[in-house]
Amino acid sequence: MNTHAHTSTSSDADAASPARGRRSVLGGAAALGLGIAAFGATAHAAGSPSRSRDRAGRFQGKSVLITGGTSGIGRATAKAFALEGARVGFCGRRAELGRQAEREIRDAGGEATYIEADIRVEDQVRVFVDRVASRYGGIDVAFNNAGIGGGKLPHEMSVEEWDDVQATNARGVFLAIKYEIPHMLKAQRGVIVCTSSSAAEQARPNSAAYTASKRAVQGLVKSAALAYGPKGIRVNALLPGTTDTPFVRPPGIPDADWAKYKQAWGPLNVDGLERMAEAEEIARAVLGLASDDFPYMTGASISVDGGGTAGRKMIQPSRT
Ligand SMILES: NC(=O)c1ccc[n+]([C@@H]2O[C@H](COP(=O)([O-])OP(=O)(O)OC[C@H]3O[C@@H](n4cnc5c(N)ncnc54)[C@H](OP(=O)(O)O)[C@@H]3O)[C@@H](O)[C@H]2O)c1
Repeated sequence: MNTHAHTSTSSDADAASPARGRRSVLGGAAALGLGIAAFGATAHAAGSPSRSRDRAGRFQGKSVLITGGTSGIGRATAKAFALEGARVGFCGRRAELGRQAEREIRDAGGEATYIEADIRVEDQVRVFVDRVASRYGGIDVAFNNAGIGGGKLPHEMSVEEWDDVQATNARGVFLAIKYEIPHMLKAQRGVIVCTSSSAAEQARPNSAAYTASKRAVQGLVKSAALAYGPKGIRVNALLPGTTDTPFVRPPGIPDADWAKYKQAWGPLNVDGLERMAEAEEIARAVLGLASDDFPYMTGASISVDGGGTAGRKMIQPSRT
């Protein structure tokens, strides 16, 4: 079993990699440092965390649980919830990053607790969920977000690699729901948001394991929405498009080069908004789905992908 989530072969990374995307222009993640110099200017402006501050208090006193909060989307979402008054319990395997994120939130005046847990291990998930519930008095919102990539052609992928992607992305979401639900049933309310992916809707040749796992999340969400809707619990899936996190950004690439790369990548890969998402923008979507603004939404798969999947679906035949 792998102990580290970060792999350069994720299929979202493939979506981010112009070399793998249908509309490729550059030489792939490994060649980023070489290829990007040809492209000028800076990356598109990111969503501003200050926008969240405008709504301070929307989650005041709420207990929020996040899986995979040590990095990327989960980390940005933990910060965003804390900024709006929530008490956030989050997990991940990398304790140093977890403690750093916890410190940042507390230094900014928020409340958060990092608990080391591997989403693939049932006992660790149970203990994590129960500790968050007992520390913060239940679970109002759960964001089941931990995930890994796994971009390989089926015949090149080992059974262990396949199993690890499913154990993390699909079984991990099942385990989280399994242990979150009893706390929500006690309160007769709760909101669960699960991270799927635009890759659930749009496969790549090397995304079999990842796409299957993210489709599984959608199936789990639909079934859980039916099972627990009558108990006042909403369950939805979020499908982010390619998002600027360590999931897609090659390690060690200088900021300026990455910014140039992103600027070139956007128009070639995302019809619609023509840019990569920022983690803070996905975080804002999570908060929206978890808020009282969507009381009638459950069992849904919500794309937050800048129009990427909508556009590609229409133009696919002429660009394949
Ligand atoms: N970035 C994208 O383009 C994109 C697009 C669509 C969907 N997504 C999905 O968004 C989610 C978050 O990804 P990200 O982009 O934020 O990537 P990231 O920066 O690599 O973060 C992944 C998070 O998942 C955690 N994680 C992975 N395996 C785990 C395990 N076994 N146990 C506990 N935590 C685990 C990681 O923590 P540790 O490593 O510390 O355990 C980390 O906090 C994933 O489900 C991914 O599939 C990403």
